[in-house]
Amino acid sequence: MGNSQSQTSKTIKQDDTEESEGLDFHKAKNKSPPNPSLPPSPIYTSNDAHNTKTIIVNGRRYQNFNTKYILPNDDEEQDRLVQAHFIYKHLFNGNFSAPVRGLLSGPVSSARRGSSGSSQSNWEDLPPPRVLDLGCGNGTWILEMATEFKHAHFYGIDISPNYPTAIKPPNTFFIQYDILNPKGLPFPDSYFDYVFMRQVYTCFSSLDWTTVVREIKRVVKPGGFVEFRDIDPILKNIGPTTYKLFEKFPETMKNNYDVDVDWAKNMYSCLQKVGQMTDMHQIVRMLRSGNSGPICHTMNNSLKSGLNSYRYFFQKNYNLSSEEYDKITEKVVNEAIDYHSYFSYFNCWGRKPLYDCHLAQSIKIQPNPLEQNRLQTNSNHRASFNLPPSPTSLGDIQSSDENHIFGQDSVSDINQFIQGYED
Ligand SMILES: C[S@@+](CC[C@H](N)C(=O)[O-])C[C@H]1O[C@@H](n2cnc3c(N)ncnc32)[C@H](O)[C@@H]1O
Repeated sequence: MGNSQSQTSKTIKQDDTEESEGLDFHKAKNKSPPNPSLPPSPIYTSNDAHNTKTIIVNGRRYQNFNTKYILPNDDEEQDRLVQAHFIYKHLFNGNFSAPVRGLLSGPVSSARRGSSGSSQSNWEDLPPPRVLDLGCGNGTWILEMATEFKHAHFYGIDISPNYPTAIKPPNTFFIQYDILNPKGLPFPDSYFDYVFMRQVYTCFSSLDWTTVVREIKRVVKPGGFVEFRDIDPILKNIGPTTYKLFEKFPETMKNNYDVDVDWAKNMYSCLQKVGQMTDMHQIVRMLRSGNSGPICHTMNNSLKSGLNSYRYFFQKNYNLSSEEYDKITEKVVNEAIDYHSYFSYFNCWGRKPLYDCHLAQSIKIQPNPLEQNRLQTNSNHRASFNLPPSPTSLGDIQSSDENHIFGQDSVSDINQFIQGYED
């Protein structure tokens, strides 16, 4: 293996001119929400936003203010995330699996669908349903959802401001914020009807996950829903080069970046035990490499672009030069095609109980000192809020009118989606 440590450090340059790179981060950060009567959050201030320093390494741009998150935040990465968005959407038959269609369609349209016209004006007084996407990335999921559910309000937060700031649906709000900010999430208790989080397995440690899920539980309304979608990044059915490359991946992520990449496999039990959710569900799907058709082709592409996103990680930690890493990447993709390697994708969701008596059966987990401090700050912070009632806190939860059918794990039934999305 080569001498990439010195090569890599030579190619690192501090990018002090981020605006000239094409993304006007400072403007984005200071921009007012499009409709001042609908603030991004009653307790968010722009002081909570991080700085936006970036670095360029081997031609890829990375944020330079959160040492845990090691994937790039450049245009190439945004393309990869859009491709991944369609993979998730197809594997799980749509953008969500929790039974929230009725809820997100909003009280007005629900009342109109019903025949009792007399209560319509009361329904219209209700606030719109609120949805939060944590680590929203470029906001593709929010943009699609907000277009479909015009009555609901969609909030996205991400540490990197790659989401749209000007051209976007009026019912969307994006905030630059670190999910691990010791102050907690910048929202009051019981603020959201539905919280969604996808593809964040590479962001947090096990302890962080406990903190994040507790925060999610705090900001979801009683009766509201939480849904996670993520990938187990450990490729299965693999050849020798792939084995060598991935063998120490989880361990290195843990030791060098304090990140637990096992999130996808653990998120169901974390949501159930730490989040104390009920009505839990989980679906697992596989995406396989090979030569037979567009889905396999998509998986091959996705693997290749994923490996390219991890270039910095592998070159730095495995002491590889760019050329060496290029060769390994090619071998891994070829092996994946030959061995029909596959990734497992996980989707789980649950619901916050309506009554506190459910919470009494909690499992005791000691908060870390940082979180204890944050909890104290938050409870002081939140005492002043007097929030209006919400559709879910009325105890009149609308059941789903969607009809998602989830079959056995299979890749043979996912053949149509890529047409129309591919170059
Ligand atoms: C792999 S991307 C997934 C984006 C999006 N959820 C999707 O499915 O397309 C992970 C995202 O998490 C964000 N992220 C990582 N650590 C974060 C943190 N501590 N707080 C907020 N966002 C974070 C990254 O900036 C990145 O946009």
